[in-house]
Amino acid sequence: MTDFYSADSIENIDILVKEAIEMKQNPSLDSSPFKGKKMLLIFFNPSLRTRLSTEYAAKELGIHTISMNAAEGWKWEIEPGVIMNMDKAEHIKDAAKVVSQYVDIVAIRSFPGLKDREDDYRDELMQHFMEHAEVPVINMESSIFHPLQSLTDLMTIEENRIDQRPLKVVLSWAPHPRALPQAVSNSFLQWITRTDHAVTITHPEGYELKDEFTQGCAIDYDQQRAFKDADIIYTKNWSSYQQYGQILSEDQNWMINKKKMALTNQAKFMHCLPVRRNVVVTDGVMDSEQSVIYQQAGNRLHAAKHVIYKLLK
Ligand code: CP
Repeated sequence: MTDFYSADSIENIDILVKEAIEMKQNPSLDSSPFKGKKMLLIFFNPSLRTRLSTEYAAKELGIHTISMNAAEGWKWEIEPGVIMNMDKAEHIKDAAKVVSQYVDIVAIRSFPGLKDREDDYRDELMQHFMEHAEVPVINMESSIFHPLQSLTDLMTIEENRIDQRPLKVVLSWAPHPRALPQAVSNSFLQWITRTDHAVTITHPEGYELKDEFTQGCAIDYDQQRAFKDADIIYTKNWSSYQQYGQILSEDQNWMINKKKMALTNQAKFMHCLPVRRNVVVTDGVMDSEQSVIYQQAGNRLHAAKHVIYKLLK
């Protein structure tokens, strides 16, 4: 693994998940092996979990970190060969090569604009930065993928598995008042479909995700039918991929509640957070025995730690 960009960066997802859980269970195995190394985290968008978990993961490995909020000041030119006489003051090629002189590893968060689908799905900022950087690059949520979240999600599913039979995993859309990216859902599907679990996706018509990520999954527009006998309910809102970036429905009938959870096989409830309580999911589900949201959020630290360890080892 040279960069951590998506599931395609990983040779064997089952092994990576297993190793990350082992590292969590044996923290002494990794005591400060990278003392003297430096890490830069660049945020073009805000974060609570990703920033704290990735920074602390690096610190626990003995790495010195700096986080930069780049939302306001920086506009990198991405296209090669352009005459840079407009508002963009630095080319991404120069930024990536300069940063590589200072630090041993870089992590970047950059959300999509949700206006131009083709542009967003080229994921150019991440792609060009990885192309020009001379050190490993971690995707901390790009326009289309959130792989640190997905590793966390699979660790949490594995930790809650009571036997080795493949589970019924349901990815359920839920309403939200703002247009959100598809990155968490794309990424979750990209990772979970490479395991032995059976995946069902449920959402209102018009919310179909890109075919590439839904291959091998059942799609059911009836949420209650999809929940039947589920072992895992993973909930996430996303804006439409087909009518790109649009909110097509805010139907509160899609909110996750205890009545729907009762249809499942005592399923665990998962969400990447942040979540809007009583819009996406009721307090009753969030605070129930079935909810593993805090374990899931806690695993962000262990997932990030294992990824940094693998990249610098
Ligand atoms: N789940 C997640 O990425 O949370 P943050 O946006 O707070 O980092």
